[in-house]
Amino acid sequence: MARARKPTPAPPQPSAEAGSPASAWPLSARERSLVSRRLLAWFRRHGRDLPWRRDAQPYRVWVSEIMLQQTQVERVCDYFRRFLERFPSVERLAEASEADVLAAWQGLGYYRRARQLHACAQRVVAEHAGRFPSTVAELSALPGIGRYTASAISSIAFGRPEPIVEANSRRVLARLAGYDRPLSGTAGDGPIWEIAAGLVPARQAGLFNQALMDLGAMVCRPAAPSCTACPLARHCVALRDGRTDELPRLATPKPSVAIEEVALLVVHDGQLLVVQRGEAEWWAGLWDVPRAAGPLGPLRRAAARDGRLLGEVRYGVTHHRVRVDVVQLPAEAAAAARATVADGSRSPASALGVALASEPAATAWVSLSGLAALAMPSPARRILELLTSPLPASPGEHISSSSISA
Ligand code: ADE
Repeated sequence: MARARKPTPAPPQPSAEAGSPASAWPLSARERSLVSRRLLAWFRRHGRDLPWRRDAQPYRVWVSEIMLQQTQVERVCDYFRRFLERFPSVERLAEASEADVLAAWQGLGYYRRARQLHACAQRVVAEHAGRFPSTVAELSALPGIGRYTASAISSIAFGRPEPIVEANSRRVLARLAGYDRPLSGTAGDGPIWEIAAGLVPARQAGLFNQALMDLGAMVCRPAAPSCTACPLARHCVALRDGRTDELPRLATPKPSVAIEEVALLVVHDGQLLVVQRGEAEWWAGLWDVPRAAGPLGPLRRAAARDGRLLGEVRYGVTHHRVRVDVVQLPAEAAAAARATVADGSRSPASALGVALASEPAATAWVSLSGLAALAMPSPARRILELLTSPLPASPGEHISSSSISA
């Protein structure tokens, strides 16, 4: 007779309450209420103390959410404080010049956000008497406010029961519900928004949404989540099925594209030639040094003929990898360049001609002291660091409007 085998004990689940079954999805009303109560209790004890949370006025929530769209929380904290000191209300932001707003945004990147922020402030003042509307539909009609930002303002500043899905909460929700399709772009996010909508409570929706984000940032991390510390462990399908490593499934990233450019540092009479990026370009409205794009071989030859190679700068923008050879034109070539720029000719015979043929919104000559006040993307500042012989700066001299040509 075969000996009866002692049953092997099930491996312990790393859940706060090992042994209790995970909830079945979709959740019942009672379980949804438990999820919300548990998450809010956790948030009261562990939620992050972030500057925009101290006073959830719509203006503050809006500014913070726009800043947080592509920038890490830690980095946003300082920028947020400084921005609020500089522009304490939507009215002050609306009446500022775009150049001032772009300058205050320097270092945060994705400058389109700053321009839309400014445009949005002007609309809120002109069309809503300086008071943000509270519904997702009205908010979404404003510049730079998409579904996510509208729902964040509506829930956090006005307490409306609107769901939100951002990078951290998306991960929490996908694991919680055991959602195992790849999350890609907005289309792939659709079902996650539905899961979020099914969970958001009628009261304290703003706190609930922020609690989900904090849980994702602090506990339900991408790798090695701390399931033992998770207030939602007993509701989590990924944990129940031992799939927290697999979920969420991520879409395959877009292959990256290589771009090669030559940047030209043209210094004449103590001033540097800068160009303002046009509407259709990256960094629209910001200032940069002239650049020519194309296969580096011919560009380099033209640049080597015209000037001296100072070094290279590499950086990434979205899924592009950019390599820039930085060339300084000698004094005589710079003098000729000044004449070229002044008479508006864009001869492609020189590297500078190629750079200017891209039709920048404006060109200008600026002293080094003026450069600090210009809104410039950080790669442009890195390019400028290669300038070997800094020029004597005339104190207080900034960009002179007479030297700007559109
Ligand atoms: N990411 C986007 N919005 C956020 C918020 N309000 N708090 C923390 N992280 C965020």
